[in-house]
Amino acid sequence: MDKLKEEIGRLLAPLVSLEPKEIINLLEVPPETSYGDLAFPCFSFAKNRKLAPPVIAKELSEKLVGTKGLYWEKIVSRGPYLNFYIAPRAYGCEVLRQIWESGEKYGHTNLGNGGNVTIDYSSPNIAKPFGIGHIRSTVIGHSLYLLYKALGYNSIGINHLGDWGTQFGKLIVAFKHWGEESKLVADPVNYLYQLYVQFHQRVEEEPALDDQARAWFKKLEEGDDEAVAYWIRFRQLSLDNYALTYDLLGIEFEYIHGESHYNDLLDTVIKLAQDKGIAKESDGALIVDLESHGLPPVMLRKKDGATLYITRDLAAAIYRKETFNFVRSLYVVGAEQLLHFQQLFKVLELLGFKWAADCVHVPFGLIRFKEGRMSTRAGKIILLDEVLQRSIEIAREIIEEKNPDLADKERAAQEVGLGAVRFGDLSNDRIKNIEFDWDKALDFSGETAAYIQYAHARICSILRKAEAEYEKWDDKAASILIMEEEIALVKTLALLPEKIIASAENYRPSILARYLIDVAREFNRFYHNCPVLGSEGELKHGRLLLIRATRQVIANGLGLLGIAAPEEM
Ligand code: ARG
Repeated sequence: MDKLKEEIGRLLAPLVSLEPKEIINLLEVPPETSYGDLAFPCFSFAKNRKLAPPVIAKELSEKLVGTKGLYWEKIVSRGPYLNFYIAPRAYGCEVLRQIWESGEKYGHTNLGNGGNVTIDYSSPNIAKPFGIGHIRSTVIGHSLYLLYKALGYNSIGINHLGDWGTQFGKLIVAFKHWGEESKLVADPVNYLYQLYVQFHQRVEEEPALDDQARAWFKKLEEGDDEAVAYWIRFRQLSLDNYALTYDLLGIEFEYIHGESHYNDLLDTVIKLAQDKGIAKESDGALIVDLESHGLPPVMLRKKDGATLYITRDLAAAIYRKETFNFVRSLYVVGAEQLLHFQQLFKVLELLGFKWAADCVHVPFGLIRFKEGRMSTRAGKIILLDEVLQRSIEIAREIIEEKNPDLADKERAAQEVGLGAVRFGDLSNDRIKNIEFDWDKALDFSGETAAYIQYAHARICSILRKAEAEYEKWDDKAASILIMEEEIALVKTLALLPEKIIASAENYRPSILARYLIDVAREFNRFYHNCPVLGSEGELKHGRLLLIRATRQVIANGLGLLGIAAPEEM
């Protein structure tokens, strides 16, 4: 819509004594297409002139009567609004041309100017469940990573692995007492979790275990060889295991900087807090009182000298600013840590860091898996990897049934299966709790990835059948589309760039996800009513250009959600 908006900006600027930019920002999409395609609200301008907005709107429309733009053809006033109707031929041609020329980069911009955005996401805890919350963080975080990249920011993905803390003392004790090497090697993530659970069961009867665990963690902190060797081993085995999942999802982190990465910086942070006079001793512990800010106190150091999760987060935030000089720093972490991040950002502010305002917690609700398709064995946790494998398996069954002759079924099953999990998560407003239902997530006609992917595959199939002579750009062919369904599809395709911006700026990939459902729906409506291969000459060419653009928009959009666009399925 950019060109249309610019045109309207230039047209109205002299009439309403506003800058074209201000006008563009005011433009709205009317609630119904019959009201036009873009509306200029006359409120602010009317105020200056002390006239009622509808009077102004009418006056403007009368002044402009008979004029025509390049991309619009009609102006009508409606209440306080001045409504513009697009000129379908010129507008359609312009939109299709932009998509044709930009290709894979359609929708991408250089808004970010290369500024660094750190994105802390996934961040599972070694030996505690790769909890379901981490599934969401992984999927949402990765999409934000891709979205910011598309907007010209330099995305820096950081996996803030939970690889430090008293649980390592517990694990060492558990493993030394009753651990089995073969089990550890076979399934490290689950086994470490089992050891952790068992530790908590046994400590009820044998409280001395707790003291041992504390002693071992202390040894670890002091760099004792044996303790460190255990820690390195547990950590590496877990990382190797996570790597399989990340590979499957096509995720690469710029940095896997776990909590332990910041150990050497903790003293400096504590000293800084003391020097600034915001930290005080309380019963031997060191705390920052946040009462006057309406928040509970933060503990930086316990009585026994141990530091905490938040101490490491303070060090990490400062390290990130110093290392990357980010323009924004995102933390994609469940809503249950709302308070933690409020406290973190407040303490940074009290330490005098203005950039605390650039730190953003991106919270999300819980995800539950509907019973049946995914039952967990007692004492086991749902691992992201298992969820993905299960989804691929179900997708395989569906594809086997729907398209038994497909050449590469395995690949399609993977693309559809992974897409279902990602989209099932991303298409919901992140802050809501979601119930993941396999049947719904893999419904080819529902609001799913498969529905969008199917539209993409269908277009690919049509394009494979089209003659080579239509594989080129043609102004006339691109200006021929005037059916209501064609225009509606063009208008939808034109929205991708602003949807990408809105998704990134609101940290809501769901905006893009919902939009792609609209694209697929508009495509289906068009395809149902307008024959493509069955039409002739320029019209056929124009429609092929339209579906080619649609394919591009779907592929680009799904790509930013981390979802593949299959050519066949
Ligand atoms: N490992 C943490 C957890 O699972 C999440 C870490 C999020 N990132 C951070 N910088 N605190 O709860």
